[in-house]
Amino acid sequence: MSIYILGIESSCDDTSAAISSDTKILSNVTANQEVHQKYGGVVPELASRAHQQNIIPVIHNALKEANISKNQLHAVAFTRGPGLLGSLLVGVSFAKSFALGLDIPLIDVDHMQAHILAHFIREESKSNPDFPFLCLTVSGGHTQIVLVKGYFDMQIIGKTLDDAAGETFDKAAKIMGLPYPGGPVIDKLAREGNPDAFDFPEPRIPKLDYSFSGLKTSILYFLRDRLKEDPDFIEKNKKDLCASIQKVIINTLMKKLLKASEETGIRQIAIAGGVSANSGLRSILKEAEKKHNWNTFIPKFEYTTDNAAMIAVSGYFKYLKKEFTGQEVAPYTRQK
Ligand code: KG4
Ligand code: ZN
Repeated sequence: MSIYILGIESSCDDTSAAISSDTKILSNVTANQEVHQKYGGVVPELASRAHQQNIIPVIHNALKEANISKNQLHAVAFTRGPGLLGSLLVGVSFAKSFALGLDIPLIDVDHMQAHILAHFIREESKSNPDFPFLCLTVSGGHTQIVLVKGYFDMQIIGKTLDDAAGETFDKAAKIMGLPYPGGPVIDKLAREGNPDAFDFPEPRIPKLDYSFSGLKTSILYFLRDRLKEDPDFIEKNKKDLCASIQKVIINTLMKKLLKASEETGIRQIAIAGGVSANSGLRSILKEAEKKHNWNTFIPKFEYTTDNAAMIAVSGYFKYLKKEFTGQEVAPYTRQK
C-alpha cells in the first residue's frame, strides 16, 4: 500500500503544497507572491497575509492534481522552521487543524534538511546519493556545507558567517536596479556576459566557512565610483557585471566544497536550495565531476527553490519511523 503525505511549505514567500506517494511526487503546487517585487525583497507582513489567502486554494489544487481525496492521506507534514514567523504560522496552524480534522498524524519538517532530502524524490533516470555525501545547501537565507550521514543525521561542517549566497545575488541585483529575486535574473543576463570583464575579490575565510558581506560592499563601492564617471555604466555593462558577479560567487562556493571533499575524502557531492538552480553553478559542478572524479547530484529544477515536494518526502521518511508531533508544536525562526 502506498503512503500518501500532504506536504506544506510556507517558510518565506512561496505557499506550496504537494502530495507524495511514498517517495514519488503526485503533485507540487506553488503560489509565488509577486507583491514583494516592488519592494526589492520579502516584506514579512505581506508574506503572511498572502500565505493566508493562498493556502486553501494551493492545497485544494494539490489534492486535485494528485487525484486523491483528503480522506486518503496518511499524514500531514509541514515546515516548522527556519523561516519568517508570520509565514510559518500560517502553514503550521493549517497543518495542525487539517491533521486534527482528519484524525491523522502530524509531522514537523526542518526546511534546510528538506532541501537536502529533495534528492530522494523518486525520478526516472536519476539515482539517489548514498550516505555519506556532502551537500552544498545554498539558499536565500543559508549557505552551508553539510555532511549527510543519514536521512536525519546531518552535520554542518561549514557555513556563511554573514550573508547567504542567494542574498548576495539578490542584493547585487538590487544595487544594479534589477528586480527581486535577483538570482534568476543575474543567471539569465550572465549567460550573455563576459565573466572576466570585472574582477571582484574572492573572500578569504579560514576553514570551510564563507563570508559574502565584503563582496556585496565591494560591488556597491565599485558601482558607486563608476557611476560617478558614467551614469549609464550599469546599463551599458549589465551582462558583463552579472557574469562577473556570478563567477566570483560560484568560485567561492566551489573552492570550499572542494576543500570539504579533500578533507573528508567524500566524493559524492550534492547541491540543494534556491541557488542550486543557477545554471553556472550546475555546469561547473558537472565539470568538477570529471576533474575530481566526483559523483554529483543536482536536483531537478522545480525542487531547487522552495517547494512542498521536499517537505512531503521528508515527512514520508519520518512517517516510516513514526516520528510524529503533537498539537502543541510551535514554529522556530532560526536553524536548530
Ligand atoms: O531556497 P530558496 O527558494 O528560499 C530560501 O530558503 O531562502 O532560495 C531563494 C534564493 C533567492 O536568493 C534567489 O535569488 C536564489 O535562491 N535563486 C538563484 C537562482 N534561482 C533562485 N540564485 C542564483 N541563480 C538562480 N538561477
Ligand atoms: Zn529554502
